[in-house]
Amino acid sequence: MATTETTRVVLVTGGMGGLGEIISTKMVDAGYQVAVTYSPGNATHGDWVAQMKRKGYAIVAVPCDVTDIDSCANAVAQVADKLGPVDVLVNNAGITRDMTFKKMDKVNWDAVLRTNLDSLFNMTKQVADGMVERNWGRVINVSSVNGSKGAFGQANYSAAKAGVHGFTKALALEVAKKGVTVNTISPGYIGTKMVTAIPQEVLDSKILPNIPVGRLGKPEEVAGLIIYLASEEAAFVTGANIAINGGQHMQ
Ligand code: CAA
Repeated sequence: MATTETTRVVLVTGGMGGLGEIISTKMVDAGYQVAVTYSPGNATHGDWVAQMKRKGYAIVAVPCDVTDIDSCANAVAQVADKLGPVDVLVNNAGITRDMTFKKMDKVNWDAVLRTNLDSLFNMTKQVADGMVERNWGRVINVSSVNGSKGAFGQANYSAAKAGVHGFTKALALEVAKKGVTVNTISPGYIGTKMVTAIPQEVLDSKILPNIPVGRLGKPEEVAGLIIYLASEEAAFVTGANIAINGGQHMQ
């Protein structure tokens, strides 16, 4: 039987987080089998899985330190055991360590670069060959508006998120003939914990006034874009960087 969207396997890194949870549940709604990774230190992962189950979402959760390639290999092997090979990889896991460059030390640089950029190598390495062999695959990399425009206090984050799209473009070229697409999405300020952690005064005075739509984005809006990129209809979209930022930055 040919694989269809109803049987395809999606793996969302950081899938229990603000954006990741909505991406994961919307992908279940769209008919995919969904697995998420959570960071090994997350003591509440069992509660999350149980809570999702109560809401009708059967989501497989595996521990994974996305900065560690062996941990990524192990996580993908567990998903393959439980659901089958990964058809759609959403590289969503990410962190911020916002501070002015003057205050930024190497630890905060490394943490963000490893989690937000090295993770793409570590995770995609585990699934790309299989996608090519099966002649079908989707790699969707979550970057940020701040990878395109820069952001005050985010030298580390903006560098990593800009790097994401370089990775996307190079890999997209290498696998284009094999039915595998690789794309970047660049969300703007979305109403998740990562954004609500910004001091309210900074949000009100420096950020919201620069969003023409006049509000934060919704995780559901980002999930909708990811669902499109994962679909058959998106087979001709590859190497793209799709902005979803309420008009904050237009390229
Ligand atoms: N643009 C211009 N100036 C800014 C600024 C901005 N965005 N943010 C702060 N400043 C100015 C302040 O007005 C202040 O100026 P004065 O000294 O003249 O008063 C100066 O910079 C210092 O500001 P703070 O007192 O805030 O300095 P701080 O060291 O306490 O904090 C900071 C600095 C951590 C960067 C803080 O300003 C901050 O959190 N900013 C928000 C950073 C941000 O946008 N992060 C995005 C997180 S969401 C995300 O990353 C998701 C995504 O992909 C979009």
